[in-house]
Parts: sequence; structure tokens; C-alpha cells
Amino acid sequence: MKNHPEQPSHRRWLAAIAAVLLMHGGLAVAADLSVCIDSSSPTASMDTALAHAVARQEGATLRVHAFDGSGDDDGFALKQFNTLAARSCSLVLGFPIDADAHGLPPGLLASAPYGHTGFVLVTPRRSKASTLAQLPAGSDVAVTYQTTPNLYFVDHANVSADVHLSDAESLKALETHAVGAAMLWRPTVVRFLAERKEAGRFSVHELNEPHARFNLVALYDADHAAQAASFQQAVAALEASGELARVLSPYAQTGAAAPTRHGNSAMLGRSAGGRSGRTCGAERKSAGKGASKGKAPPALFTTVQADNGKAKFKEHCAMCHGPNLEGRAGPALKGANFASDSSDFHVRDIFNILTHNMPATEPGSLAHADYVEIMAFLLQQNGYPSGSKALTYEEAEKSKVPLIYRGQ
Ligand code: HEC
Repeated sequence: MKNHPEQPSHRRWLAAIAAVLLMHGGLAVAADLSVCIDSSSPTASMDTALAHAVARQEGATLRVHAFDGSGDDDGFALKQFNTLAARSCSLVLGFPIDADAHGLPPGLLASAPYGHTGFVLVTPRRSKASTLAQLPAGSDVAVTYQTTPNLYFVDHANVSADVHLSDAESLKALETHAVGAAMLWRPTVVRFLAERKEAGRFSVHELNEPHARFNLVALYDADHAAQAASFQQAVAALEASGELARVLSPYAQTGAAAPTRHGNSAMLGRSAGGRSGRTCGAERKSAGKGASKGKAPPALFTTVQADNGKAKFKEHCAMCHGPNLEGRAGPALKGANFASDSSDFHVRDIFNILTHNMPATEPGSLAHADYVEIMAFLLQQNGYPSGSKALTYEEAEKSKVPLIYRGQ
């Protein structure tokens, strides 16, 4: 900022104009900056520091609404961000977006990226490798279950996966030399190393793999466009002064992450790392035990729909759920583990997960007809009969028919 004395006041002036124009066209009053911050995220302290810096820059009073985004087993639904953005604050900070894909909660807008973070390769300090390809042949690499880096082994035959249920366990494997390296979410690694005062023992390398890089953005709804505009102006000023880099370090770097060189390969999305599970599964609801296994299920779809659905599943879903729905990076979508009597799924619950959260890389990106046909395929694979009447989007959205695996 010292090098560019005109810039900050110029920027603030622009922000003030934007605020006046976008709000009520009335007087510009010292604004309130209200932000939501996910207290369960490893970037929570960074997001809080950013909020303070932005409020100082804007001359605004800061109000922080902390929420716990970790959720229960089913994660924190993308949908809940809409509620947050509409009711609790004008901006939700710290939302990571895959630089190789898109994945905004439906109905929300995103600020320009203020930083980037992502999955990193962590190696012991003495290791000479800084990429997967450079690791010695036969190396075991720790990864956490259902996170994006599980998919990188296909292209790197020199390494094999050592899968753990939590980031803490993956890090422990690295710490105890059970593996040669680990692939994890940068903020988690940074926090872990800081807590243990062990940063010196390890090197952290950016992964140049598909869907490893994420941009951090603030989410907002259309009613808060003015606050978002001021936020962006303030972030630009903080970046110019070098303060942004200080605030984000070491959790993230400033600027936007460039897409990786494999930007077009359709692979895992943003349902990982610090936000593991957040994109999916949360709509699952219990609605009492409706299902009786004995009763024959109704014919909800046609064979043509299921056949079309099979091809579309292969194209959009199989890379994560397996060609035979057996599960990979995503869970199995067939069998008792998926739809048991006790899981209390209805057709509409699963259909809503499909349409709102899937494919995890680009939720909501398929045509209505594609979702319906994929749903028909899932039903068929779980033992449901086809009939003469085609399933429609509206029916699937509302259907309370229990979804229970019936064998095949
Ligand atoms: C990039 C990987 C990826 C792609 C592509 C993908 N999914 Fe998923 N899907 C996941 C992950 C990961 C989960 C589990 C998330 C969680 O709940 O923790 C999931 C969960 C689900 C669930 C909920 C299962 C349950 O038991 O809760 C359904 C249903 C589903 N996916 C269907 C689909 C369909 C249909 C497609 C294709 C249109 C698709 N997915 C594409 C990764 C993916």
C-alpha cells in the first residue's frame, strides 16, 4: 500500500459508490460486515483473520457468525449454505471451489477467489521427491478415505494407496514412517504440523493433479451483492498491500489457482479435504419405517429409461461409484449397504441427492431427463421392476416409495 498511496482510497471510494448504488440509493453509512465462518474447518482462524482485515479496510463493524459445518455422518448439505447466506450473514467465508470444475451451492453467488489451497503431497524433509512421479517405485502413500487423491494412483503406477479413515490417521502413518508420503488437504496438514511443532520434519508440495487445487471464495446471495462488492474491493486493497498474503499464510496462497494441466479429465470434485462429505448425502432423512419388504414394489420406470440411464451413469458417475455401482471414491449405490431396510430411504431422498449434489464435481449439471434415467437405472439395479409408464422428474422428486435393496 505504501508503494501506491492513491490506491486504497480510490478503491474504498469505488466500493462506497457500489454500496450506495446497489443498496437503497440512499446515504452511505458505515456498513456492518457480517460473515459466517465454519468453526470446524481447519481454515477457521485464517478466515477470522481475513474478516478482521477486511472490516478494518472497509471501516466496518464486524460481526462473526460461527457455524459447525462438520455435521453428522451425512455431512453439511450444500443447501444449508443458502440458509446461512440468507439469514445469518452477508458473506460465508472460506468456501473451497475446485479450480478444475464448478460446484456452487444452487442459488448462491461467489466472490472472486481471494486465495487458493488444495490437496498437497507431504513428504519427509529428507525426501528428494516433490511430485508423485518422483517417489521411489513401490512407495506407499497415505490418503484419507473418500478424498480426491485416492484417484491419483491410477495414473501413477510407482506408488500404492494406503487408505485411512481420517486425516489424523493418514498423518500418523507418515509420522511413524509407515508410508513414504501422504496426500492431504493443505490446511489440515498445516494445522497438524503447527500443533505438533513439527513443521521442520516435513515438506509440503502443491500437487499438480486433477482436482487438487481449490479457490477460496466468499458465498453470498443476490440480496448481498453490495456487501460482496465491498468485500472484493477490500480484498484487492489488502492484496496490493501484501497484507492478504500475511493473513492467508500458511494455510493458503493469494490469488486464484490455475486449472491443472489435466483440467478436462472428469474426476473427483470438491467433496473432500476439510469439507469432506459436505456435498453429499445430507438430504437423507428418516421418515419412519414405511417399508415392508414383502410387498412388491410398483413399476416406476420403463426399460428404455433404465437402459439409457446405464449409459449416462457410465459417463457421469461410474468413475466415482464404480461401473457396477460397487463404490470407489463414492459409496456403493447398490445392495444392502446402500439401501437397507434401516436406512429408510425413499426414492425422492436419493433423487434429491442426485439432482442437488451429483455429480460431485458439478452438482446439478445434468439435464432433468438424464437424472430421471439414471434414477431408473439405480432402481433397476436395486431390484425394482420396470413397467410401461415412464418415470417423470416431478414424480421422482416427490416419490415416497421406499428404496430398499431387493436383490437381483
Ligand atoms: C467426483 C466423484 C463423484 C461423482 C462423479 C459422482 N459422485 Fe455420487 N458421491 C460421491 C461421494 C464422495 C459421495 C459420498 C459423499 C458423502 O456423503 O460423504 C457420493 C454420494 C452419492 C449418493 C448418496 C449415497 C448415500 O448412500 O448417501 C448418491 C445417490 C450418488 N452419489 C449418486 C451419484 C450419481 C447418480 C452420480 C452421477 C450423476 C454421481 N453420484 C456422481 C462422489 C461422486
